[in-house]
Amino acid sequence: MPMNPEPHAVALGEYHAAAQAQPNIALVKYWGKRDAELNLPVVGSISITLDSLWTRTEVRFVPGAVQDRVSLNGRSDESVTKRVVACLDLLRQRAHIDWGAVVDSRNNFPTAAGLASSASGFAALVYAGGRALGLELSEAELSILARRCSGSAARSVLGGYVEWTRGQLADGSDSAAHPMLAADAWPLRVAVAITSTAAKQVGSSEGMRRTAQTSPFQAAWIATQETDLAAARSAILTCDFDALALVSEHSCLKMHALAMAAQPGLLYWNGATVECMHRVRTLRQQGLPVFFTVDAGPQLKAVCAPSAIEKVKAALREVPGVLDVLDSGLGAGAHAIALGALEA
Ligand code: DP6
Repeated sequence: MPMNPEPHAVALGEYHAAAQAQPNIALVKYWGKRDAELNLPVVGSISITLDSLWTRTEVRFVPGAVQDRVSLNGRSDESVTKRVVACLDLLRQRAHIDWGAVVDSRNNFPTAAGLASSASGFAALVYAGGRALGLELSEAELSILARRCSGSAARSVLGGYVEWTRGQLADGSDSAAHPMLAADAWPLRVAVAITSTAAKQVGSSEGMRRTAQTSPFQAAWIATQETDLAAARSAILTCDFDALALVSEHSCLKMHALAMAAQPGLLYWNGATVECMHRVRTLRQQGLPVFFTVDAGPQLKAVCAPSAIEKVKAALREVPGVLDVLDSGLGAGAHAIALGALEA
């Protein structure tokens, strides 16, 4: 182990980088792992990357330091630090160093409430960490590293419409995200109805483990995913909104049915989530191009054509129990930002 110089002995900018990544919303869901250690999924998945919600992260490796210091939204939390350290370990292995790092990360949206904060968080962390160490990582390598830290993070490395392939290989080298369509080729909008800001009670990893062990629908989930993926690919490549609405709501409800049937059952929704689903379906019956999806938390995401966004937001705001409605377009993948730009 080298000597442990004071952090200020390191020149500003050295081993130091910042990056931004945005959450992604799965339209065909990832749920279940074929290898929990490598975070390999039992099924492929398809998502859209957002633009106005973000995680910004600065990483500085300090030669000789023996510990990592991690802060998320200005606070340090043991369970967050544990996952960040595991992710930094993967970067250190690649760079053949053992230095500690200082990580400062901010989200402009509620953390751990089913808003994919781990996806944008780990995509930003591997991007900034890789740059800080001068690793020249390809998109696929970044996606694989992000995947190992949190499955859905594999998709936030890329922008627009993204497919994360399940892969077949035991080492996971073929399980990475790939671009399907650019954000501006079909610029859909997303309204996010916030129905609770509390952290979820059962995290995705534990939820997936419990589902695989106890849900009687696990085999059917795996057997039917390929049909959904094919339907979503074709809907996206032809910009067919109705077809995408059909397969996305189906995949969402099927994932939740699978998880609800675990023992004990996983119930990520609250009453307002269900009311929002009904509201979205009523809007669609009235001719508005909008559909819903929900992840491992109580927030509802309504995906719509740009012309419908104001009506969708207003309708969701009226639903009792909705605390706030965020609004986003589709955006880019992980990218570098200037040092010191965390608050901007
Ligand atoms: C419901 O990526 O959070 O959002 O791989 O264990 O970190 P880990 O899980 P995570 O799971 C996301 C599950 C989901 C569906 C999806 O994003 O596809």
